[in-house]
Amino acid sequence: MADNGTATITLTLDGTNQSASLKLRAGTIGPSVADIRSLYNELGIFTFDPGYGGTAACESKITYIDGDAGVLLYRGYPIEQLAEHSTFLEVAHLLLNGELPNAAEKRLFEHGVLRHTMLHEQIRSFFNGFRRDAHPMAVLCGVVGAMSAFYHDSLDINDPEHRRISAFRLIAKVPTIAAWAFKYSIGQPFVYPRNDLGYAENLLYMMHAVPTEEYRVSPVLARALDLILILHADHEQNASTSTVRLAGSTGANPFACIAAGIASLWGPAHGGANEAVLKMLAEIGHAEQIPDFIRKVKDRNSSVRLMGFGHRVYKNYDPRAKIMQRTCHEVLGELGIKDDPLLDLAVELERVALHDEYFVSRKLYPNVDFYSGIILKAMGFPTSMFTALFAVARTVGWISQWKEMVEDPSQRIGRPRQLYTGAPRRDYLPLSARG
Ligand code: ACO
Repeated sequence: MADNGTATITLTLDGTNQSASLKLRAGTIGPSVADIRSLYNELGIFTFDPGYGGTAACESKITYIDGDAGVLLYRGYPIEQLAEHSTFLEVAHLLLNGELPNAAEKRLFEHGVLRHTMLHEQIRSFFNGFRRDAHPMAVLCGVVGAMSAFYHDSLDINDPEHRRISAFRLIAKVPTIAAWAFKYSIGQPFVYPRNDLGYAENLLYMMHAVPTEEYRVSPVLARALDLILILHADHEQNASTSTVRLAGSTGANPFACIAAGIASLWGPAHGGANEAVLKMLAEIGHAEQIPDFIRKVKDRNSSVRLMGFGHRVYKNYDPRAKIMQRTCHEVLGELGIKDDPLLDLAVELERVALHDEYFVSRKLYPNVDFYSGIILKAMGFPTSMFTALFAVARTVGWISQWKEMVEDPSQRIGRPRQLYTGAPRRDYLPLSARG
């Protein structure tokens, strides 16, 4: 990099005398990027990066990850400090608006979210259209998408006030939809949100309360859930966030964009992994079976993966997994669960994998999902709700990233190109001439 902070890369196309100069752009921290936007015009070639492992798709000021060092920062603040000292709604304000709120801003923000928790009553009828055994993520995806049909007064993406109200609506109402998806699946009456409860408290209340008796939200569980929500709130340009940005780049409304993010999160390679970890632990069953399971994972002919392990960006311990592991022990302790066979099995599985050459050489470490399922299960959440809870937390990250994108004057429709390897041009054959 030159003294004045500018640098370029010069590419020369072999066998021709064509070359292109690409500007290098430096971030605040982390690797610089080569700005390739002029490459096609100058050399007539595209870049090829399936899975986007080497592509910075946008400029962002929200979240920073150093995958080699295991660092995660929200707006510059280390996740460990936020997890210890902050609350989910404070973190939501930070992600959305760029700064931690002062006391007055905090009150106003919390008021804004907690006064938007109720759903339009007509939305209730949507739930009845689903089968009782529908996966909560299917319901969440459908009902959040349907919000665009109800909140017409906040759909103008070019109006900052509409964007603000939509963000409040999403952050506030997605927990109600998730809780109702659960209630519907078990045939219990919907529990309406209560504005006197905190964010995590309210979610626990809507999931676990019934009209026939009083339900007191455990402060220990509320704090643990709040922490889990903080850890899942944002994670840079992951698959679901990129999906939200791509959908949003067309000018689609925020409710439709977040529904797209929910669909992307559902996959087992992404947010669905927390559910898959518990299924995996149940299948392994006992520590004695671990070597056999690890053998299957390492077998190239099997499609078995060690769920909750590995990450596209982290080539070190996921910092969220460290906090999650500690929290897991604390929550089980506070709940009076002395020996949890699942936790013992997970700890042993982690120990075996971290000493196995296969995982060591590929830098595969536990990710956030390895322990989150065990905590959520201990807290009384059914496995099918795990990914839906992840979606509740990530809604904050999605809407913050969507807002940043819409407010970026250089934003254009996301439209990747391709390396075409299909048939070259050919002429249509009438049916009688086809073999
Ligand atoms: N178990 C076994 N082997 C693995 C695993 C795993 N969990 N993850 C990666 N590998 C191996 C691959 O087989 C590959 O080996 P090879 O080089 O011999 O072919 C190598 O490690 C690299 O793996 P890729 O699939 O290329 O890594 P990628 O970055 O594409 O995938 C992913 C990352 C999807 C997270 C992957 O590690 C995985 O499937 N993990 C399990 C699912 C999971 O826990 N997902 C949650 C991610 S965190 C989140 O979304 C909240």
